[in-house]
Amino acid sequence: MLIIFVAIKYLRTSKIQNKTALVRVDVNVPIDKQTGKVADAFRIEEIVPTIKYLQKGNNRVVLCGHLGRPGGKPDKSLSLRPVAEKMAELLQFKFLETDHALPNYPLSHLIFYTGNFAEDKHRKQLDSVPVKDVVLLENLRFYKGEEENDAMFAKKLAGLAEVYVNDAFGVDHRQAASVSAITKYLPSYAGLLLEKEIKSLDIVLHKSQSPFVVMMGGIKISDKVQTIENLGEKADKILLAGGLANLFFLSKGYEIGKSKVEKDAEKIAWHLEKNFKGKILLPADVVVADEQMDRSTIRVARPHEIGKNETIYDIGPKTILKYAAELKLARTIVWNGPLGLFEVKPFHTATMALARIVGAVSRRKAFGVVGGGETVDAVRMAHQLDHIDHVSTGGGAMLEYLAGAKLPGIEALS
Ligand code: 3PG
Repeated sequence: MLIIFVAIKYLRTSKIQNKTALVRVDVNVPIDKQTGKVADAFRIEEIVPTIKYLQKGNNRVVLCGHLGRPGGKPDKSLSLRPVAEKMAELLQFKFLETDHALPNYPLSHLIFYTGNFAEDKHRKQLDSVPVKDVVLLENLRFYKGEEENDAMFAKKLAGLAEVYVNDAFGVDHRQAASVSAITKYLPSYAGLLLEKEIKSLDIVLHKSQSPFVVMMGGIKISDKVQTIENLGEKADKILLAGGLANLFFLSKGYEIGKSKVEKDAEKIAWHLEKNFKGKILLPADVVVADEQMDRSTIRVARPHEIGKNETIYDIGPKTILKYAAELKLARTIVWNGPLGLFEVKPFHTATMALARIVGAVSRRKAFGVVGGGETVDAVRMAHQLDHIDHVSTGGGAMLEYLAGAKLPGIEALS
């Protein structure tokens, strides 16, 4: 049998010059409801190097992405305008929103293009954009064809450019026209960010050094079970916290009061504990309070001593020490999901303390990877973003990749 393996082409080594490049980015970022502005620009910051790299090669950059789930029709509340404004700020370009005439001023512009690019007149406008400007198209999910991975839609999108660059790791686990189908119509490359994501996560998957510690928090175990299963084979320790740990307590028959937990998932916990006996560590103590988080009700309890009206909000001091000891020995660390309700003091204690440990150990001997929107927020709060070897822009995509799944966006590039 003849197996033909075609490797991914990386933008960094492809010397693309004087072309129009359509760049799919993941700019699905939180927008502050009060101000209407981007609340967390991490994903936007991470694509700037690819834009600058393309511009250096005299390429015209047309960015496209999505925000939220508008379901194939325009929705003003999910416009990419705040993203475009943030992008202009980061690039130090002038911001310009338009659906028609494109000026050729001496200054560089971030052009937020709201016209329907599928129509000829708009395509002509886009063709005339000066190379020094950067275009961002309005939310692709305003068009039905995007999430349907529609070939016609992909073809129209492809008609805007000469090459396609995927720099949208965070959405590469979705089948979408701008991620998957488009690669049939244009020479396609992985951008600088996607390359960094693939190469860093491959270290965890294929070159991890022992002790390998996986730390998982958050609520939904069904999103993480495959990842725990896959990494669990190589990991030496799996440290659990948050709703994930609560589920294990529930499966042991403990009272967990009003604590958050994924419904009807105790079987998953039971199964994982059986499969990874000795590797899975659960909190030895937790911080609880009543539902109103009244200060007078906050106490440290052992997991089997929780009252019916109490809620677990964090892991306790003994557990922090126990988990810190494992992390300090680690040579490879993967962390996804906050360990407690870190947005509310004093329930931020464990997440902040262990974020600092992950940062410190990553600076020294361990290869540290962190991912997931809330986890990245927590790491930023603890001022550790720069210390961790790889902070992934993918939430679901990172979990799926580490679960060993083939992501449609990455598959389509090879
Ligand atoms: C994300 O934020 O995880 C990606 O952009 C994918 O978004 P989706 O879950 O709405 O497909």
